[in-house]
Order: sequence, then structure tokens, then C-alpha cells
Amino acid sequence: MRILVTGADGFVGRYLVQDLVKRQHHVIGGVLHSNVDLADANETVCFNITDNHEVDDVIDKLQPDGIIHLAAQSMVGTAWKNPAETLLINTIGTTNIVRSVSQFSRDTKVVTIGSSEEYGLTGKLGRALVEIDPCLPQNPYAISKFSAGLMAIQLALKDEINVVHARPFNHFGPHQRQGFVVSDFASQIAKIEQGLSAPIISVGDLGAQRDFTDVRDVIYAYILLLEQEVETGIYNICSGEPHTAREILDIMLSNTQVKIDVQIDKAKFRPSEVPLFIGSAGKLMQAVGWSPKRRFEDSIVETLNWWRNQ
Ligand code: GDD
Repeated sequence: MRILVTGADGFVGRYLVQDLVKRQHHVIGGVLHSNVDLADANETVCFNITDNHEVDDVIDKLQPDGIIHLAAQSMVGTAWKNPAETLLINTIGTTNIVRSVSQFSRDTKVVTIGSSEEYGLTGKLGRALVEIDPCLPQNPYAISKFSAGLMAIQLALKDEINVVHARPFNHFGPHQRQGFVVSDFASQIAKIEQGLSAPIISVGDLGAQRDFTDVRDVIYAYILLLEQEVETGIYNICSGEPHTAREILDIMLSNTQVKIDVQIDKAKFRPSEVPLFIGSAGKLMQAVGWSPKRRFEDSIVETLNWWRNQ
């Protein structure tokens, strides 16, 4: 297939491009800045997803078989600081891609990327969330992804194109930048071990439970959703196992020789934090036969080791 991956130079994008190329797809890496080095992609195209004319030009010219639309403002904290920009990138950007496909390249299948954050307060039900559960998003990032998904699905149904809105729960792995819980903890521990900072780790809310999956399992789900025939709709991607940030910290602390004190920093707590998100990937498993392969603890240690080598 000829596949356009937007946000191809991001954490998830780089893994995805590599795996798609390995599977013999022709990959066009969509990036915002022309100076990006994307050696793994077959081609690179530079455009801004918030500019509908640029999006129309690219999609009309490329006529890809599939698009995996990763480009996004992906941080919950940043979204509180820049809610309008987050809506512009995540909601309007997704709208531009889907609208352009329905106008200029109707046979293109689109995978849009949502988030477990879309469920918001519904997470409090305390059971594995399914796609038909109501969404009550509690922060600007969650609102931007929820409205992006609603828009994508409604346009697809109206214009009879094929759009899959993937809802990944938390994912992590080597190469993820700081600002996410696993990389924040691992990067600090690696620095302490190298004597570059005092043996104190600063952490946020250790109690919230999230459903974590290794990024390489998540991208495999995106690939299957694109390669196989799948009905327009929403698909959770998750392991079904909740873990607290405290568990992540404990795994890392039991894998270091250094004695590290833990300092809780209230400034790192989030406004209106939902205490629990667990998902059911049953719909995805049934549709494409996906299940996560990597063990949570192994992936945490592998990510810590990656930071040790930076
Ligand atoms: N980042 C961070 N840093 N989070 C911390 C820390 C810390 O030092 N200490 C505790 N946490 C808690 C957060 O409060 C949150 O409850 C949890 O750890 C997970 O935080 P993140 O890994 O930063 O992820 P996120 O849930 O905000 O967002 C990620 O997951 C979403 C899917 O649920 C992002 O990858 C989103 O793009 C994605 O959609």
C-alpha cells in the first residue's frame, strides 16, 4: 500500500514508518518542517495540517491508499497552557485531513488517533471501558481528541469513506521524550546514576491508574487497522491492565543500585485528573486479531536502560 503517515518524525511515527517499510509498504512521511531527517521513509512530504489548502494539495496529489494521522499536540499539560492551539492542531487538523480525503481521494482509508482521555469522568466507572461508553472529557487535550474523533466519524458516515478512530490508552517506550510519566521517571534516574543530579526524584500524582501498552504493540494495532478491512468506527487499543505511577517508580527503583529519595511535587499534579482509566480491546481483537505481546515490566526496564545510554 502507499501510506501517508503524518507526524512521521515523532516518537510513535518513527517506529511506525520503520515497521510499515519492513512490511513492504511504500511510506510517505508527512512532516511539518523540511529540515527533518526521515531516512526510513520512501518519500517525505512537508505540509501543515492546520492549513486546509496545503492538506488538499498534498492529498489530491498523493492519492494514498491509506493515511495514519499521528500529527498532534499530544501532551495533556501543554493543552492546559495552549487550549486553542491544541484544538487547532488536533481537531481542525484532523478535520482537514478527513474532509480532504472525502473531496479528493475517496478510496483512501484513514486511521485517526484519539485517546483514552476522551472517556474522561466515565473512567470512574471502575471497569474496562468499551467504545460505546459515553465520553465526558475533562481537559482541553481530551476535548480536542474527542471532537476530532466525532468529526472524523461523522464526516466519514456522511461522505461514505472509511475512517477508523483508534483510541490508544497510555503508551511508552524507548525514544519517548520527557513530559510523560515513564520517560520523566527514567530520565531522572539515569541522570542520578551518572552523578549528574542529586539522588532525589521529583514526581507528580503517584496514585492515578492508567492502562499502559508498549508503543511497539500500539503501532502494530494501527498497522492491522489499516491493512485489514475494518468498519468505520472507534477502536480501543489497550492492555486491560491498570498500573499506577507508583508501580512504575517501584519497578525502576528496584532496578537501580543507587538509593534515591522520592519527592512529591504538587506542581506536577493535574487539574481535574481522572483517577482510573482501564480499557477493553475486545472490539479490536475481534476485528483484526490484535493482542499486546510485550510485558509491562520488561518494557519499563528497557525504557530505563535506553535513558541510561543517552
Ligand atoms: N508526565 C508525568 N510526569 N506524569 C506523572 C508524573 C510525572 O512526573 N507523576 C505522576 N504522573 C501521572 C500523571 O498525573 C498521569 O496520571 C499519569 O502519570 C500518566 O501521565 P503521562 O504518561 O504523562 O500520560 P497522559 O495520561 O497525560 O497522556 C498520555 O496518554 C494519553 C492516552 O491516555 C499521552 O501519551 C497522550 O497523548 C495520550 O493520548
